[in-house]
Amino acid sequence: MPSPELSRRMFLKISLGLSGAAALIGLLKYLGYQPVPSAPTHFTLKAPGEYAVGSATSLAEAKAWLFRDEAGLYAISAICSHLGCTVGFLQDQFECPCHGSRYNAAGYVLRGPATQPLSYLALTLSEEGLVVLDIKKVVTAQQRLAVPA
Ligand code: FES
Repeated sequence: MPSPELSRRMFLKISLGLSGAAALIGLLKYLGYQPVPSAPTHFTLKAPGEYAVGSATSLAEAKAWLFRDEAGLYAISAICSHLGCTVGFLQDQFECPCHGSRYNAAGYVLRGPATQPLSYLALTLSEEGLVVLDIKKVVTAQQRLAVPA
């Protein structure tokens, strides 16, 4: 039968070994940590001429809609200004499925509870001549991306 002193030593050795192993596992996890990639903020779309005058194109991944009028292209956020649900666009109106807010085709509130209009988002042209949507940059409702003839 082992002496109590030996058992205590053995217990300490095992405890230290387990503590060291746990610390090593934690360190390896820390060193191998990969941050979750952030959601994209820029979306490369088609060439401007691909969108017909009068068209409305859903950009579901970007949660936005792309429109073209006589002056050019513009993008309206599909994120409801009330609490952030995604609005749909049908029959020249945006409608929020969450609490029923409605916006006209220009993004202005027709019916609450939303009180603020939908945001207009920045459009630029890439070096390749493609439309680029920046969902983090809000612009005025008058801004248009001109479509080259
Ligand atoms: S989130 Fe759209 S109406 Fe509430």
